[in-house]
Amino acid sequence: MQTKYEIRFAASASLENTLTVMLQASGETTSAGSNEADPQNIAARAARIADFKAKAMGTLEVIAPAGSAADRLVVLGLGKPEALCANDWVRAGGAAAGQFRAATKVVIFLDAPGLEVGAAQAADFALGLLLRAYKFDMYKTKKKDDDEKQPKSVSVTIVTACHQDAQKRLAEVEATAGGVVLARDLVNLPPNVLGPVEFAEKARELENLGAEVEILTEKEMQDLKMGALLGVAQGSVRPPRLAVIQWKGGKAGDAPVAFIGKGVVFDSGGISIKPGAGMEDMKGDMGGAAAVIGLMHVLAARKAKVNAIGVLGLVENMPDGNAQRPGDIVTSMSGQTIEIINTDAEGRLVLGDALWYCNKRFKPRYMINLATLTGAVLVALGNQHAGLFSNDDELSERLTAAGEATGEKLWRMPLGKEYDKMIDSKFADMKNTGGRHAGAITAAQFLKRFVGETPWAHIDVAGTAMNSPSTEISQSWASGYGVRLLDRLVRDHYEA
Ligand code: BES
Ligand code: MN
Ligand code: ZN
Repeated sequence: MQTKYEIRFAASASLENTLTVMLQASGETTSAGSNEADPQNIAARAARIADFKAKAMGTLEVIAPAGSAADRLVVLGLGKPEALCANDWVRAGGAAAGQFRAATKVVIFLDAPGLEVGAAQAADFALGLLLRAYKFDMYKTKKKDDDEKQPKSVSVTIVTACHQDAQKRLAEVEATAGGVVLARDLVNLPPNVLGPVEFAEKARELENLGAEVEILTEKEMQDLKMGALLGVAQGSVRPPRLAVIQWKGGKAGDAPVAFIGKGVVFDSGGISIKPGAGMEDMKGDMGGAAAVIGLMHVLAARKAKVNAIGVLGLVENMPDGNAQRPGDIVTSMSGQTIEIINTDAEGRLVLGDALWYCNKRFKPRYMINLATLTGAVLVALGNQHAGLFSNDDELSERLTAAGEATGEKLWRMPLGKEYDKMIDSKFADMKNTGGRHAGAITAAQFLKRFVGETPWAHIDVAGTAMNSPSTEISQSWASGYGVRLLDRLVRDHYEA
């Protein structure tokens, strides 16, 4: 069950029967109350006696003594104020929510000595609260003790001097959290429940937010000659879909920004079948498409002043009597032919057609694709950075900066002629794998052959979209990686 946080910002709040949370920067104290029994003073005293150092995201819990209005007090450390970045405020919100337990009334004092708290920091903190609340347990029919104590809703009052400006930002915070939650849910959902058709229906729901949505069927993709995408889909009894989402929040006629997602709802490897161990994780092979739909949700929900396109290539990769074989040669929508060496290198086939289609139809300002594309990127970067490949330095730098700001980090990797040669084929224009060496790079080179001169970035999220470590803001297998990153990018550079 998902606990609902009713958040409001205020100048003051009653502490009666609350969990009261106070912030503290290292080398400072919590803000002072006016008398001995004030929670601030009790907390400050406890911090002193316990020698609490207020390291970033460290917490100190105190059961409030008799005579104090609050039930429980938590001091949350923020570390050195000069080192605080935007994402630290999001993490702080998550760390605070991690202390809520069974509390139904929470008051958080955001202002503390040494901390500069404005509306932006307050909004980031609230976002952290909402992200931490996420839980995917809809398939658990037997609840544990902890779950029974988990309240249906929690009233959270955030006390800060800038409460009026912060309150105005709450709708945007909710839009952002909504997009991340949508992406996490889709990645967490089991593949029997979420096929290409069901995923496309999720895209359709963005119409409720004012986006325009088209769903291309198999027949329509045949007419467009998307032989690469269709080759992957032909082994599955579940038909493919291409979802096209348009958000027109900018000036009519302005070239849109475009986001393209790999949406392989399950990747068995096909005829080049994967080993059994861990194959269940391949339900998350639509993490790129999930990030794109999550982003489009955020842009529409917060009425972003930008024209944006989301294209989702939705297929299932299965072994079957009708499945694609190694040795097959398919013709992509671009006209370029591809020799299939390994049917498990399917994501690039889906994206090749999706990128080409997007570029031809929309002539976008740039294209950014997200994909759980290679195990090789996981070997190279683990789960701390996604791999970034691009033909455009400015776009790369902007993406990298957005990654630093949101904590959804990127590391740029090289492209080059020599790598490109590795995917030349004896029989066709190219082959779909370049061998074991430089696997993440040759996959990117493959995609590059479908983007023409358009500024483009490929983000390989195989290590960051799923199987995620627990953090202050996510305890979920699916992280929702990419939604906040791309929303930040759009906000910082492409909105009127
Ligand atoms: N979906 C996988 C990549 C992947 C691996 C995602 C681990 C998340 C976690 C992709 O379709 C794939 O199978 N890639 C192959 C390519 C190879 C056959 C050239 C890989 O990385 O092994
Ligand atoms: Mn694969
Ligand atoms: Zn895959």
